[in-house]
Amino acid sequence: MLFSTTWALAFAFAGTAYAAATGSHPTRPNDACSKSLVSLSLPPSWSRNTTCSGNARQTCGILQYLFPSNETFTGGSQYYEPLVETLYSEVCWKDPACFVTPNTSEDVSLIMRVLTATNTKFAVRSAGNLDIPGFNAVGSDGVVVALQNMNKKVLSADKKYATIGTGLNWKSIYLWIEPFGVQIVGGREPRIGAGGFLLGGGIALFNDKYGLGLDQIVRYEVVLPSGNLVNATASENADLYKSLKGGLSNFGIITEFEVMTTDVVDINYEVALYAPNNTKAILTAYVDFLNENNGGPGNANVQIEVTQNYTLIFYGHVGHVPSAPEFKPFRSIPVLKTFIPPTNGTVTSLLFATEGQSGQAGSSDSPGSYYGTSLSHKIPDAKVTLEAYDAYLATAKTLQPGISIFFAPQGFTAGTVRAGKARNGGNVLGLYEGPQMWHDVYATLPNVSQYAAAQQAVDSWSSTVTKKAKSEGIFLPFIYSNNGNIRSKVLSGYGKKNFDFIKKTAKKYDPTGVMQTLQNDGFLIRKEA
Ligand SMILES: Cc1cc2nc3c(=O)[nH]c(=O)nc-3n(C[C@H](O)[C@H](O)[C@H](O)COP(=O)(O)OP(=O)(O)OC[C@H]3O[C@@H](n4cnc5c(N)ncnc54)[C@H](O)[C@@H]3O)c2cc1C
Ligand SMILES: *[C@@H]1O[C@H](CO)[C@@H](O)[C@H](O)[C@H]1NC(C)=O
Ligand SMILES: *[C@@H]1O[C@H](CO)[C@@H](O)[C@H](O)[C@H]1NC(C)=O
Ligand SMILES: *[C@@H]1O[C@H](CO)[C@@H](O)[C@H](O)[C@H]1NC(C)=O
Ligand SMILES: *[C@@H]1O[C@H](CO)[C@@H](O)[C@H](O)[C@H]1NC(C)=O
Ligand SMILES: *[C@@H]1O[C@H](CO)[C@@H](O)[C@H](O)[C@H]1NC(C)=O
Ligand SMILES: *[C@@H]1O[C@H](CO)[C@@H](O)[C@H](O)[C@H]1NC(C)=O
Ligand SMILES: *[C@@H]1O[C@H](CO)[C@@H](O)[C@H](O)[C@H]1NC(C)=O
Ligand SMILES: *[C@@H]1O[C@H](CO)[C@@H](O)[C@H](O)[C@H]1NC(C)=O
Repeated sequence: MLFSTTWALAFAFAGTAYAAATGSHPTRPNDACSKSLVSLSLPPSWSRNTTCSGNARQTCGILQYLFPSNETFTGGSQYYEPLVETLYSEVCWKDPACFVTPNTSEDVSLIMRVLTATNTKFAVRSAGNLDIPGFNAVGSDGVVVALQNMNKKVLSADKKYATIGTGLNWKSIYLWIEPFGVQIVGGREPRIGAGGFLLGGGIALFNDKYGLGLDQIVRYEVVLPSGNLVNATASENADLYKSLKGGLSNFGIITEFEVMTTDVVDINYEVALYAPNNTKAILTAYVDFLNENNGGPGNANVQIEVTQNYTLIFYGHVGHVPSAPEFKPFRSIPVLKTFIPPTNGTVTSLLFATEGQSGQAGSSDSPGSYYGTSLSHKIPDAKVTLEAYDAYLATAKTLQPGISIFFAPQGFTAGTVRAGKARNGGNVLGLYEGPQMWHDVYATLPNVSQYAAAQQAVDSWSSTVTKKAKSEGIFLPFIYSNNGNIRSKVLSGYGKKNFDFIKKTAKKYDPTGVMQTLQNDGFLIRKEA
């Protein structure tokens, strides 16, 4: 559960609010329209009868013509409904005019040119785990570009770099790469996509050693709104490269990532459950642990998940090193139940040991929805973290039957931030270089009709804790996008300098604002500008 949950989500009437705010799409002048259509080499009859007013059904006809071999799916297809329901959170499920599932970067490029030429609304997804409605789906007025077939896996001859397609999930990546004796700084749950995880940040097992997932990226391959396929590295399109280290889906569609590998395959781990009445002792020990190990080698990792019935701790250490001294602050707290005994394993064996053990609201037969929030603050001591827990308990008392709430305080130290800065020029997240907590509180709900209630509960937790952290002078503006929700002003949270840089880059690589206006929703510049 630990692993299944840190994960966020959205807003009952998001779709309507957004549609009202944006209105209809900008339409190009007709001559520009037919010119761009001609450039797609469609038969002349298409160019004559096609308009560029964003008619998604018409655009799906073009996509069906260009991608006929089991790649474009409209409502009549047996593959359509499963693609709707791939999304982790049921509240995100929407019925688009069609799905298009490109196999190659060139396919993505052509799709982008079609969408841009026809002014068609679209949404992009990799593995579909983000739980914010409208961010990875669109209704009947749009097209979903579903990237699950973008599944390239290439390891360099020296095994130092791996190229991974955006549509892969971490299970398939770990299983593929581990036999080579290397690993990647990736997700803690098998189903998470490379794309969303690496664009948003990437909380992994040993961030204090390596930095976040996105800090490992040495090359992005990107389809720009013009349809041009480019690489972004520290030396080629360097401004785009830097901006992508946090700037999310504001520049184009990313087709593949080249990342540094690590040699950490062997790890020692243990998962224990504790009675709720020990949670305060645990949180105090956690803050001590983070301060004691601030800026250290980052070989020890503790993760905590508080539920209404028990508190779970994951202890992980690089190498087969049992009972590492770093975990001392926790050792006096009595364990209620050992969930996974001390184990000499690997990144992959851990993934399987915890698979399916999480606080998911639904199973595959009984899906669920999620709403979460993310906020961060410094941790000179445990005070505000304990207050965040009190606020969690208070919120839990107010919940309607069926809704559960989870509290995952995620600690980082200067190690994470310094490792990120040391890699390829750093990121644009604007992180504070010291011990800090990124709280993730989320609700699971079996019935979508409970979404507004869940949202209200989680938001009230958030406003209480924000006030407490501000009054102590330790609030941090950073919001972890992958645990955020529809209201999160993620880009502003990176600080003005970083946000200005992201804006400048977007203007350069997307001068007509396609990602801002045709993309259905996301953590978009135009929503925060
Ligand atoms: C069970 C579970 C466990 C989780 N565990 C962790 C964890 O351990 N660590 C962590 O950091 N996070 C974790 N998360 C959060 C997770 O990182 C985010 O949900 C992430 O966005 C999922 O990526 P995805 O590709 O599956 O999602 P998607 O929903 O496909 O994509 C997420 C967002 O990115 C955009 N996007 C995706 N691919 C592209 C692309 N190629 N080009 C442009 N835009 C793109 C989408 O439009 C969407 O807005 C977890 C989530 C769940 C549900
Ligand atoms: C446009 O013309 C093509 C080719 O003749 C045809 O297949 C398609 O259905 C037409 N589209 C519309 C919207 O009429
Ligand atoms: C793309 O891949 C799918 C399955 O992965 C396959 O059915 C389809 O034929 C492929 N299309 C092309 C053009 O290769
Ligand atoms: C066709 O595409 C669907 C959806 O991506 C996929 O599930 C199926 O396996 C594909 N079939 C073939 C024969 O490639
Ligand atoms: C991007 O870089 C990769 C690896 O060097 C290369 O194979 C690919 O052709 C490049 N793509 C573009 C569009 O330049
Ligand atoms: C804490 O809870 C556990 C399990 O429910 C119980 O055995 C223990 O006595 C409690 N401890 C205190 C101090 O209340
Ligand atoms: C907590 O335990 C109660 C009673 O055993 C159970 O009904 C409930 O579903 C549990 N809640 C969670 C979040 O696991
Ligand atoms: C793990 O490996 C270490 C080092 O070889 C050994 O001391 C320890 O007993 C092992 N632990 C388990 C649970 O096998
Ligand atoms: C969900 O809630 C609605 C409204 O309360 C109710 O009508 C519906 O039956 C519920 N669905 C399920 C599957 O319980």
